[in-house]
Amino acid sequence: MKPTITLPAYPSEIADWWWKETCKQWPEHGEERILNLLRQEIVRQSDRFNKTRDFDPSAYGARDLSILAYGNFYTPRTFAACGYTLAEAFGFRQWQAPSKGPIRILDIGSGSGASSLACLFYLREWGVQNPISLEAWDYSGKSLAFLKRIHREAIHLWPNTQVVTARKDLRHLENISAKEPYDLILSSYALNEFWEGREIDYRKDSISNLIKLLKESGYLLLIEPAEGEVCRSLHGVCSAALTTHQPFFIQAPYFNGMTCPLLNSNSRYFSHEVRPCTPPPKVEQINYPLNLEIREVKFGMSILSKKPSKSASNHYTLLRIVSPIRKRKGTISLWGIGADGIEREFEWQRRSVPKEDQNFLLSLQRGDIISCEFRVEQSSSKRTRVSGLDELRTWFVPRWR
Ligand SMILES: C[S@@+](CC[C@H](N)C(=O)[O-])C[C@H]1O[C@@H](n2cnc3c(N)ncnc32)[C@H](O)[C@@H]1O
Repeated sequence: MKPTITLPAYPSEIADWWWKETCKQWPEHGEERILNLLRQEIVRQSDRFNKTRDFDPSAYGARDLSILAYGNFYTPRTFAACGYTLAEAFGFRQWQAPSKGPIRILDIGSGSGASSLACLFYLREWGVQNPISLEAWDYSGKSLAFLKRIHREAIHLWPNTQVVTARKDLRHLENISAKEPYDLILSSYALNEFWEGREIDYRKDSISNLIKLLKESGYLLLIEPAEGEVCRSLHGVCSAALTTHQPFFIQAPYFNGMTCPLLNSNSRYFSHEVRPCTPPPKVEQINYPLNLEIREVKFGMSILSKKPSKSASNHYTLLRIVSPIRKRKGTISLWGIGADGIEREFEWQRRSVPKEDQNFLLSLQRGDIISCEFRVEQSSSKRTRVSGLDELRTWFVPRWR
């Protein structure tokens, strides 16, 4: 299958940079001892993200070990999640760089810069040549210092870009303002931390406050870990924020500005992407005794803009895949959301689908957007049984280069 957009792999220079920094921190320790230190910290961080959920300025941005563990282990994954989301904004939802002059980007909760640097790296890889000025905000001054150093020391990966950092507590977004509006604002794996324990009205207001900082043509990219409650909160808040007086348009994950249909409590799935992600060798080495999932990146995302886009989303057979692709003895099936916002299961009888089309179906991923004409054999409100697929077209099928 020909990808609609390709993502170059996580640069080995960044992986090497993090490992070199880590070794410099404990020159008296051997490699295995350092790896064990990182492993212990990764288990602690994973508990904090998933169980204790205590986030304050001293949570993990205040200690070198924490930042180094995150940089070595989690950065390649959030870098990939940001790459995929940006690919959708750029390759399908028609975000465009200004015709001249610099691109202004703001990263909210940037930490040590996985999302900021992914953004700079992929825009350059996709041929965007404008100068780029990126502002990174976080309350961890230590993390921001790491970000500035990697940016400077690996400048060949993102030429003609500038990073300005600011130490800010994002719990007070009502007070934020910008001298000039932004072309892109992103927040990756951070909203859930500063939303923790806050009411929906507070969360809604933070979306409105961020939209206010966008240019008329600007996009807001919100990326969150793929945990049911976190993703439901993201989509629920985006939907509720539509009622505020700050108008905006929901570009993604679905079509025609619609809110997430999977918020419906009867849904089998919650909105999130599952994409492959090749870990750098050091991540494999760290993970060896931990046995965590490292070959996939799972994330929820929403892309908002001030204005509707002119994308092809009115195409009536458009479908975003929201489940794994299931191959059984006689069938291949998947769940998708169509341009009409209905969640449906599509099931193909393998005997009536040529091998080549079967291979195509099996190579699809959750999050891909396709369209095809179906020959419907049987259709109920939820399940459409189809006997073939014609005029198949891929609209958003991002793949690693
Ligand atoms: C999981 S990290 C994500 C870092 C990066 N954006 C990425 O994609 O990998 C979450 C970041 O949000 C920051 N953060 C959480 N709550 C914050 C707050 N109230 N104010 C400022 N930063 C906050 C943390 O310091 C941390 O750097």
